[in-house]
Amino acid sequence: MQKTILILGACGQIGTELTYELRNKYGSETVVASDIREGNDSLMASGPFELLDATNYEAIEDVVMHYEIDEVYLMAAMLSATAEKFPNRAWNLNMNSLFNVLNLAKEKKISKIFWPSSIAVFGPNTPKENTPQHAIMEPSTVYGISKQSGERWCEYYNKKYGVDVRSVRYPGLISWKTMPGGGTTDYAVEIYHEALEKGAYQCFLGKDTKLPMMYMDDAIRATMELMESPTEKIQVRSSYNLGSMSFTPQEMAESIQRHIPDFEITYEPDFRQTIADSWPSSIDDSLARKQWGWKPSFNLDQTTSEMLDNLKK
Ligand SMILES: NC(=O)c1ccc[n+]([C@@H]2O[C@H](COP(=O)([O-])OP(=O)(O)OC[C@H]3O[C@@H](n4cnc5c(N)ncnc54)[C@H](O)[C@@H]3O)[C@@H](O)[C@H]2O)c1
Repeated sequence: MQKTILILGACGQIGTELTYELRNKYGSETVVASDIREGNDSLMASGPFELLDATNYEAIEDVVMHYEIDEVYLMAAMLSATAEKFPNRAWNLNMNSLFNVLNLAKEKKISKIFWPSSIAVFGPNTPKENTPQHAIMEPSTVYGISKQSGERWCEYYNKKYGVDVRSVRYPGLISWKTMPGGGTTDYAVEIYHEALEKGAYQCFLGKDTKLPMMYMDDAIRATMELMESPTEKIQVRSSYNLGSMSFTPQEMAESIQRHIPDFEITYEPDFRQTIADSWPSSIDDSLARKQWGWKPSFNLDQTTSEMLDNLKK
């Protein structure tokens, strides 16, 4: 039987591309996109869309009943940099939206959930290199606290109520179709736009700030592979470490200079530096590789080629 899917927060950086890919795979009419605002024209034209507040349980329930939804992908959230400015709003959005979908599954109104966590669950006391799946966490940002709490609740709902919830800790994501939404790794997208427009970029992180990153195609594929894996393979019900590449702003600039030799980068670290300094530099994702076969395919130079080629068009 064909399954029906609802995406909450479908108009953001990840939601937009996830909507396209799920529609490609399962058919436009079976994937309902939703957000508190409308998305870009091509997203809006690609299939059914509902204006929906992810913090409103009854509103989500109505849409779930109307379309007979089986699976929910919860992509609505306030990201790390913005959340530091609006801590209460971030907590309300990030936690209440998650409780809403967990409770819908507990009530057996939906059968499967995808909810993304982040490398922001880790904190300054976490081992920085090759950060293991299980490590000291102690996140120091509002966003990280909400993600760590979310992970605990996902595991709890799975163990206690049998809710089939699946999650990965995304690293910083690099994409060209939609701009990022207020995170600490946004520089890694802005830099390509400004390299092409101005030939120069002022980076808000210092040149040696090494962070785990991933090209969007890998992130979407990981999400879909995780959701399609047989239940018994998914043994981590908090969230899986997910890795691909790690680099510094300077290394990214050098990768761009191999295409645009005159490209110049300057560094003016702001409040986001403190957030970045509290996060891992690289991630050990061996459990995801072992349990459901995760394997990344884009490195930094491949990402740079993809980004510059597509943005030029
Ligand atoms: N982009 C990254 O690098 C990254 C890294 C790690 C984790 N994540 C996680 O992935 C998920 C999606 O991130 P993203 O980068 O696409 O974020 P984004 O900010 O680009 O998109 C979030 C979307 O949620 C929508 N939204 C906000 N409040 C809403 C509400 N009340 N109801 C419905 N929709 C609402 C926004 O309009 C926006 O379209 C988030 O949980 C985020 O924490 C992202």
